[in-house]
Amino acid sequence: MQVNIALKKVVDNSYDITINTLPTLHLDTKVAIVTNETVSAIHLEYLLTKVSAKELHVVTLKDGEKYKNQESIDTILESLFENRFNRKSILIAFGGGVIGDMTGFAASIYQRGIDFIQIPTTLLSQVDASVGGKTGMNNKYGKNLVGAFHQPKAVYIDPYFLTTLPSREFSAGVAEIVKMAVTFNKDFFEFLECSDLNNPEVLQEVIKQAVSTKADVVTKDEKEHGIRAALNYGHTFGHVIENETKYKKYLHGEAVAIGMVMANDVAVKMNLMSEKEAARVKALLEKYNLPTSYKIENSRSFYEAFFLDKKSSDSAITFIIPIGIGNVTITDKVDIGTIMCVLNKFGES
Ligand code: NAD
Ligand code: GLY
Repeated sequence: MQVNIALKKVVDNSYDITINTLPTLHLDTKVAIVTNETVSAIHLEYLLTKVSAKELHVVTLKDGEKYKNQESIDTILESLFENRFNRKSILIAFGGGVIGDMTGFAASIYQRGIDFIQIPTTLLSQVDASVGGKTGMNNKYGKNLVGAFHQPKAVYIDPYFLTTLPSREFSAGVAEIVKMAVTFNKDFFEFLECSDLNNPEVLQEVIKQAVSTKADVVTKDEKEHGIRAALNYGHTFGHVIENETKYKKYLHGEAVAIGMVMANDVAVKMNLMSEKEAARVKALLEKYNLPTSYKIENSRSFYEAFFLDKKSSDSAITFIIPIGIGNVTITDKVDIGTIMCVLNKFGES
């Protein structure tokens, strides 16, 4: 005997990403703004002039990647239970990628899922983390290993928030912009080469281009069964660097910048990218003071660490390798000799 549950359905999770001055939001339900101590001190007062709700609560978490954990998720959930949030209630993520990922994750599990809105305040979260519905937290086994795909209902990107961002954090966001351009959009890369992102008008245009690129990828492959993995360009190497340096020396975007240079070296060795193109990417990263070199102490253990990557299987490592500028391949067929050759070169630097 067999009972069938017919679950084949079309779900419309489409949403708009607004890149402009934050509009006034009137939400006729209970709302919790989730933020951290830093963002709250600088920008919460302004946000409160823009949001009205039936009932408005604020959950303020400690600042930092090390608080992207179960305890913070519990703090959010506790506030929702204490204030009797229901399935129509809404969360607002107000902060960088750490806050965005955790708020989205809490929204995805509270009463099996409620809505949330992203108001990202770092460049990295405006161009990348707030778009696409990846949510989650870290645990002792690694970064973002617990999470869910849960799309926001809306994303409001206001470049005004970036005026208070430390310049190192700004550059970390630039790394993710370069990532988007190298993998998917040659014209965008060339625009970046001859532009100054410190100019607010240029910055707004660049945010729009980066978000459009990401939105296009997510539309094609929401749950990362294929092309979305290309957004991890630089990350396979970058995650090992972050791990080796215990998440203390480099910001995520900085490690990704070094990782992109390493991936480009692999591409050059595979004749997929010219040395000149690799040099152009490096120069663009250096223009924003991003690091592009790293001394690998032990190539073998660096290599072994690739197997911890979410994209890898027990026997194969998946690499995201650019094809020139503006194109990319996702492959588990990179010869180990090629990889070791690149890693050894970084061992000499
Ligand atoms: P972050 O959230 O830690 O923010 C960086 C720092 O800037 C923090 O100290 C924060 O308090 C501060 N800050 C935020 N806005 C500010 C402002 N306007 N003015 C002054 N200071 C401000 O880091 P991040 O780089 O935004 O995000 C990194 C996180 O994003 C990582 O956890 C990463 O895993 C995640 N991420 C997620 C995705 C995704 O698709 N979901 C993509 C990329 C990265
Ligand atoms: N930041 C990678 C992704 O969203 O898929």
